[in-house]
Amino acid sequence: MLEQVILHNFKSHQNTQLNLDSSRLHALVGQNSSGKTSVLQALHYLSQLTNSEPENIFHHERAPQFLITIGQNNMFVTASGFWMDEKNRNNWEYSYEWTKTNYSASYPIVSWSINGKQKISNSTFIDEVLTDLDLIPKQIIQSLKAAVHLKLVATNLAQATYSDAIMPQVEFDGSGLAPTLDYLRGEYPDRFQSLQEMLKRIVPGVREIGVKRAKVTVDRQRLIEVDGKSISYAESQEIVGQEVILNMNSGERIPAHAISEGTMLALGLLTVLMSPDRPNLVLLDDIEQGLHPKAQRESIAVLKEIIETNKNLQIIFSTHSPYIVDELTASQVHVLSNTRSGYTRSKRLDEHPDVEWAKQTLTTGEFWDAEGEDWVLAGEMND
Ligand SMILES: Nc1ncnc2c1ncn2[C@@H]1O[C@H](COP(=O)(O)OP(=O)(O)OP(=O)(O)O)[C@@H](O)[C@H]1O
Ligand SMILES: [Mg+2]
Repeated sequence: MLEQVILHNFKSHQNTQLNLDSSRLHALVGQNSSGKTSVLQALHYLSQLTNSEPENIFHHERAPQFLITIGQNNMFVTASGFWMDEKNRNNWEYSYEWTKTNYSASYPIVSWSINGKQKISNSTFIDEVLTDLDLIPKQIIQSLKAAVHLKLVATNLAQATYSDAIMPQVEFDGSGLAPTLDYLRGEYPDRFQSLQEMLKRIVPGVREIGVKRAKVTVDRQRLIEVDGKSISYAESQEIVGQEVILNMNSGERIPAHAISEGTMLALGLLTVLMSPDRPNLVLLDDIEQGLHPKAQRESIAVLKEIIETNKNLQIIFSTHSPYIVDELTASQVHVLSNTRSGYTRSKRLDEHPDVEWAKQTLTTGEFWDAEGEDWVLAGEMND
């Protein structure tokens, strides 16, 4: 389980330390641009580093020169946690660090420790880093591997898709939903059934989830030989894929493109969480997108149940909704705020000096709504 995350000079985070409570469900709140998505990104890269080369992760808009806080030369992200064997607690820590060199290029250092014994995989040569990455202890991998960072988009979820994967998956942006649901229905009918029940609780108008055959246009690269030379060209082809369809209590059958946005997003999220190969760490951006307040509350109730029955699952999400926060305790809510120069500061809502009073008087959402974020900066010189 992941217990602490430290971001040093990662975008707007100069020195952010998040201490996660034992609930395995954690919210990040704060104004726009306060650094919520950045926390999810930093963790996602850390997770990707357990099975991918740094050069495949830190490029384009994820290049270190964009991630390191402007004006700084050194950045690191450290996650730490623990696992239990028998009755003993074992601690792990996993970290990546970028330092700008004289030549304005950077190089990564990946390091980890188990019960305080540290191993550093330090190299200017990416190949060497990779070799060492193969040795990452499995307990760290179990907590972090293949964390998904989901920013689901309803139109992608609704798209008819074709998949030839043995185990289709919903992608980070929501594509691939229909084949994944079809796979679940065929191979894991119990899970599919529970998923359907959960969706019905969040969106009461739904009676049944279906998947139907639909035409999909795919672009394929083809090679032709002209005068002995190979020329590549893209060819559009229509094939048979799948599309989600919902049977409603009203008797209607609604095809994916006509399903409401909030329903589609809830369905996408549940499908990810109910998949047999779902990761242990799920990172969700803007969890309440498109959901009615009642549906928001119900979706947190559903997430709590899923966490209860999946002992290794941990969910970190960002939200702007007091209805969502209402369903949590103060120790599950991490409040992020910006200094005047735009740097992120963060405190857990239960660090607020009035928390004991608030517990008697207000709901968690009301407390956050009343206090906002400024208190996080109290006591520090506002730069
Ligand atoms: N290299 C950098 N150095 C300093 N600050 C940076 C750097 N890169 C990005 N930022 C800042 O980091 C912040 C990132 O905000 P982020 O997207 O994490 O906010 P958010 O809390 O998710 O906001 P929203 O609620 O709007 O989604 C922005 O203010 C951005 O200007
Ligand atoms: Mg964001």
